[in-house]
Amino acid sequence: MSPTWSPSSWRSFPSVQQPDWDDPAELERVVEELSALPPLVFAGEARRLTADLGRVAAGEAFLLQAGDCAESFDAFSADAIRDKLKVILQMAVVLMYSSGVPVVKVGRIAGQFAKPRSAGTETIDGVTLPSFRGHMVNDIGFDAEARRADPRRLITAYHQSASTLNLLRAFAKGGFGDLSRVHAWNQQFVASSAEGRRYEEVAAGIDRTIRFMAACGIDTEATPQLHTVDVSTSHEALILGYEQALTRQDSLTGDWYDCSAHMLWIGERTRQIDGAHVHFLSGVGNPLGCKVGPSITPDEVVALCEALNPDRIPGRLTLISRMGADQIGTALPPLLEAVKESGHPVAWACDPMHGNTFTAPSGRKTRHFDAVLAEIAGFFAAHRAAGTWPGGVHIELTGDDVTECLGGAEQILDADLGTRYETMCDPRLNGRQSLDLAFRVAELLQRS
Ligand code: PEP
Ligand code: CO
Repeated sequence: MSPTWSPSSWRSFPSVQQPDWDDPAELERVVEELSALPPLVFAGEARRLTADLGRVAAGEAFLLQAGDCAESFDAFSADAIRDKLKVILQMAVVLMYSSGVPVVKVGRIAGQFAKPRSAGTETIDGVTLPSFRGHMVNDIGFDAEARRADPRRLITAYHQSASTLNLLRAFAKGGFGDLSRVHAWNQQFVASSAEGRRYEEVAAGIDRTIRFMAACGIDTEATPQLHTVDVSTSHEALILGYEQALTRQDSLTGDWYDCSAHMLWIGERTRQIDGAHVHFLSGVGNPLGCKVGPSITPDEVVALCEALNPDRIPGRLTLISRMGADQIGTALPPLLEAVKESGHPVAWACDPMHGNTFTAPSGRKTRHFDAVLAEIAGFFAAHRAAGTWPGGVHIELTGDDVTECLGGAEQILDADLGTRYETMCDPRLNGRQSLDLAFRVAELLQRS
């Protein structure tokens, strides 16, 4: 951290992707109001996640980071949160049971409300309006009022994050995450599919294993690891006024933590080494992610490691590559070599979503399940060749039975996309596609 760092020092650096707030004075009042509200997470929890991710960096654990592209103020319900958690827990169980590797679970949840955009404006039928930037900023409807960047939305985002996190904690620690409930995580529409039946076999195997442990004399009732799970939260730290307001000094260590989530990441569009986002996150103690796309150079990756993790703390930095299935084989290997050469302890994760987005003939933004799998396979192959650990995956998904990504076992076609296309931003894998993906990743992990 530079000696001049403070929660607001990012303001003297160029900051891209910040909304044009219609009332900047109101924004400052909101930042002040948020600064007085309780933190959403505690520094000790963020440190525990850093330690877990340190095991990922060391090749001893696997990261599953998953959730919505953008959370919505409208589609907010206990059922939706529960179903997202179900699919994440199912994927984690499949990965752990098949590979024997511990899985670190991190949701894109409880704060994932802001989106970077390629274009600042959108034009429809000759009318040009500001782009939709996520519910923390404006609304998706196409009229001037909906697209107005309203600072009061930061407060709503904070409260929705608090309720989401509260429910997640209750589910994770209050019995829902108990391994005796593995069968209950299989939703009906998934259970009737081939992936669902395959999952039932895993779940039955877990039941047998727990009975076997009990028969051996292990007190399974008194083993907390079998009854609760750890699920951390994360989002892209995009709107810096919001992140600044939630940044608090830890009373134990005196260090600053961004208490809006356990883990924060920097997006592909905001990773400028001299920019405000890198500067801001360099000063907080949370574990960080940084997306790296095909345009980054090996020198830039090492510079990001130096800026974000000068003390070389294992688990502090996760590099999330998002190259696209066509480019992963050529773009990733030079980065792996450069980071290895630098000696930086990095956890590597694969985002197989953002480099594989295209517009289908129907006009809908989509991704093909085969391209997602192909990028993950390329990620594992590049790591095998470099002798490095393919540390995790970063997935956009939902527990619901949506039709947003093409392919998968149910063979979703372009003509099917309209059936249930509900995403607020990018297309997500549905419950079945997500579970299928977990089985494929587990097979790759077994061979790593
Ligand atoms: C995202 O994760 O939703 C996103 C916008 O990704 P990227 O920054 O990699 O484009
Ligand atoms: Co996205």
